[in-house]
Amino acid sequence: MEHIRVSYGSHTVLKDFSLTVEPGEIVGIVGPSGCGKTTAIRALCGFLNPEMGEITVNGRTVFSKKERVNVPPENRKIGIVFQDYAVWPHMSVYDNVAYPLKKRKVPKAEIAKRVSYALEQSHMTGYENYMPSQLSGGQQQRVAIARALTSSDDIIVMDEPITNLDAKLREEMLVEIRLMQSRLNTTIIYITHDQEAAMQLCDRIVIMQKDGSICQIGTDEDMIKNPANRFVFSFIGVSNFIPVVEKSGSWCLDIGEGIPYSGVRPKGILPGVKNVMGIRPMDIIFDDESPVRGTIEQSVFLGSLFNYFVRVGDQELRVQRSTLDSLDGREYAEGQEVGLRFLNEKYYNAEEERV
Ligand SMILES: Nc1ncnc2c1ncn2[C@@H]1O[C@H](COP(=O)(O)OP(=O)(O)OP(=O)(O)O)[C@@H](O)[C@H]1O
Ligand SMILES: [Mg+2]
Repeated sequence: MEHIRVSYGSHTVLKDFSLTVEPGEIVGIVGPSGCGKTTAIRALCGFLNPEMGEITVNGRTVFSKKERVNVPPENRKIGIVFQDYAVWPHMSVYDNVAYPLKKRKVPKAEIAKRVSYALEQSHMTGYENYMPSQLSGGQQQRVAIARALTSSDDIIVMDEPITNLDAKLREEMLVEIRLMQSRLNTTIIYITHDQEAAMQLCDRIVIMQKDGSICQIGTDEDMIKNPANRFVFSFIGVSNFIPVVEKSGSWCLDIGEGIPYSGVRPKGILPGVKNVMGIRPMDIIFDDESPVRGTIEQSVFLGSLFNYFVRVGDQELRVQRSTLDSLDGREYAEGQEVGLRFLNEKYYNAEEERV
């Protein structure tokens, strides 16, 4: 997609949206509600006409404002799984999956063959005559995926396909989507506000912010290690933000009177603005020597890690320690006073947008 512009009335949702997805890649598009994710893929699939830009699928131009090309959705060969109307309740599983082919007037025998293939791929063989109401939520989603496969096993777009499912089923579906992808080498564009699902499933993640622009594209590791801005930092994973300030030569957490934490200017401090430190719960270390003192307010055991809520001045910080770290007898009790040290902290302009 290149230089795509889409407005609803006077509200321009996508201003100049460009995105390239490589063959065989799973790309996640994440971003806050209303930022334009669904709009972007509606444009890709041909359900709305951009005012500007070009869309190319496998080398074939399917939309170009300039060249007046506009291929209808059913001929773009993109499989689609939408959450709202994932399956049609009044059609059997077979008819649901056959629908995109019937619409393209594919011969009956060919339809039967491809439906059977798609059901096999999504592990729904044997359910042909079931109605959706006779299926579980997870099975309905599989039918939706099978239907997408009959449109194309080349490119599939999924818009929040599994948010209705419970956590365990969701996990299973993610694994299955991944397996299906590696079997068929399908290109998948996966839209969600669930950044964890995106990180688990996707090769690359595209992060959109409220104004419809893309603020970062990269692997989950890129996002975690080098978030492009404060928005990405706060969007990916749990984060703490603490205002900081320089006071008579030392750097202080700007809490109460100021709590000094560094005698030298920390790396990454931005000049000329009010700074805020972004710090991950895993990057706060308990250190008795540290001048930053806090009190454990709450300690929650989460199996592989401990989640601590630590009060420092008037702020509550999230701290995580892996259970392995804690096996050395250092488990912290509620009410206990601790020293805190920061690793890998980032600095942002306190005025910058966050989630
Ligand atoms: N048919 C429409 N008419 C007018 N405005 C619309 C229409 N569809 C979407 N919008 C507006 O466009 C913006 C983007 O909507 P879109 O559905 O693309 O968001 P989204 O990123 O998919 O959000 P969510 O995560 O909630 O699904 C929103 O402000 C929405 O109100
Ligand atoms: Mg949406």
